Amino acid sequence: MAFKKNDQNSWSLINKKAYEKKGKAYDLVRPLKLYGYLSKYFKKTLSRYLSKSKSSRIIDAGCGTGNSTYFLDKCVLNCEIKGIDQAKKMLDVAKQKKFRNKVSFEQISIEELSSENKYDAIQFFQVIHHFKDIRVVLSASERVLKKDGVIFFIDFFSRNPFVKFLNFIYCNFLGQGKYYSRDFNLAKTQLKKNGYSVLEIKTHPVFMNYSLIVAKKIN
Ligand SMILES: C[S@@+](CC[C@H](N)C(=O)[O-])C[C@H]1O[C@@H](n2cnc3c(N)ncnc32)[C@H](O)[C@@H]1O
Repeated sequence: MAFKKNDQNSWSLINKKAYEKKGKAYDLVRPLKLYGYLSKYFKKTLSRYLSKSKSSRIIDAGCGTGNSTYFLDKCVLNCEIKGIDQAKKMLDVAKQKKFRNKVSFEQISIEELSSENKYDAIQFFQVIHHFKDIRVVLSASERVLKKDGVIFFIDFFSRNPFVKFLNFIYCNFLGQGKYYSRDFNLAKTQLKKNGYSVLEIKTHPVFMNYSLIVAKKIN
């Protein structure tokens, strides 16, 4: 299944408009420090799925202002990380940040993403809830990942009823739209339905709003 730029659903376009305005303002509500704390906990899990002997190539899809790129950069060393996003203003902020690894950014939508030179992993950090159809994200991943490549989803998935309630309030009354998938079980079901195996799930013990799902296409 191929999703092209023209397939960008209204959802994607709404996102684009919303994020084109944000830029620096985004970092005021989601400080870089938080991503540093999160990396301390998720680092071990992420590195387990990347090669220790050779440098890995990772895409940070929907990298925004580069905070999630910074998260990756803190988790792994000797890697090549490419951050992509459709909102220029977000990327302008990302480009000003400092990283340890070889990091580059490109303005492109997830629907348009493709690469001849395949990647070892793709990260979607607080991104999949922006999609009506998870298959858009999975299809983009398949176009860029190596055969054994893995997907890291980090999002506001939660099994905790209180956090679920907060998510409901945020999605329906405070967010920029009704989000699709902040539901942990729904994300898992959708992955399995589309031929993916869920390799690991981890929820941060303090920032319980953040969970990581590691998934891989069953060949
Ligand atoms: C909640 S922000 C997350 C940003 C970053 N990953 C982080 O954790 O700070 C969602 C980002 O996804 C981007 N985005 C949404 N839909 C997209 C699409 N179809 N293609 C590329 N980027 C997209 C938005 O522009 C925005 O920067």
